[in-house]
Amino acid sequence: MPSAQMLLQSTDFNITPLTPAVDRNFADDVLHGLALPQKQLHAKYFYDQQGSDYFDQICQLPEYYPYQTELNLLPRVAKELAGIFTKDCTIVEFGAGSLVKIKPLLRDISSIRQFIPIDISGIHLEMACQLLLSDFPDLSVIPVIGDFCFPVDLPALSHQQKIGFFPGSTIGNFCPPQAASFLRNARCTLGPDSYLLIGVDTKKSPHYLHQAYNDADGITAKFNRNILTRINRELGANFSPEKFEHYAFYNAGQGRVEMHLISTEQQVVDVYGSSVAFATGESIHTENSYKYTPDEFSQLALSAGWQVERTWLAEQDLFATYLLRNRG
Ligand code: AVJ
Repeated sequence: MPSAQMLLQSTDFNITPLTPAVDRNFADDVLHGLALPQKQLHAKYFYDQQGSDYFDQICQLPEYYPYQTELNLLPRVAKELAGIFTKDCTIVEFGAGSLVKIKPLLRDISSIRQFIPIDISGIHLEMACQLLLSDFPDLSVIPVIGDFCFPVDLPALSHQQKIGFFPGSTIGNFCPPQAASFLRNARCTLGPDSYLLIGVDTKKSPHYLHQAYNDADGITAKFNRNILTRINRELGANFSPEKFEHYAFYNAGQGRVEMHLISTEQQVVDVYGSSVAFATGESIHTENSYKYTPDEFSQLALSAGWQVERTWLAEQDLFATYLLRNRG
């Protein structure tokens, strides 16, 4: 007797259809980014189905510490939250991916009635929801295919306590002003009296960071190059991904890991009707991954109207989870 609910929201402007012919936003963003003096592509475009699969593989790598470190922290977090959230509540997850990290919360916080995962990768999300429902058959699950870079319209919700969940240090993809604007949008989406549980990577040894983004098996390189394969497929471009080299490093001045794709030769690529020229050694900046000390992050949160209520630090301060309270 399935009590679970699955609705796909797909009509709003900020929601990506499942099988787009050509996604105009994607085309415009790509052409705009490749026309800048420092060419760039938005990191959210990594996550087509193949890219989401590569990301899942990255999470299994020994070098990529954020995933396993946060996952090990969450049961401890969940046990404490169970004492704070005792009334019926709804959890809204931003960038829900494979729905692994919600499980420790669902196991320990019995007051969670409803779960609303938001993700840009529709097929990946749907499959993950089916799997989750087999573990938690009494949970009401309402997946929303959407881009949380914009304010997200939630489906009509019960008047339950709302808790946002934004794990994985995904907030690190935004530069600080954008991160603050995400946090303000999340306050609107979640409403008054809401909380946000957020995982944020910490500043640490550059050597350690370097390894995490330059794994020995080259999975991160495949993940990085896949964005070109996606552009070829979806926008009829003719990139040769093997003519671009994966390059990732920690920029200490900016407090971020940067990923780039570096052209190994002089070349011209056709992208959706435009010719894009690359010099030898020219880069496309594909991702930023900002790291924050607990002090820096609580300042950022405060500037966006959130108060840090609790901080959990993993062993050796490798990763942090914060419970933020909406200051209204
Ligand atoms: C999912 C954005 C948190 O920045 O560490 C992993 C993505 N990029 N390896 C990160 C990523 C390269 C990841 N986030």
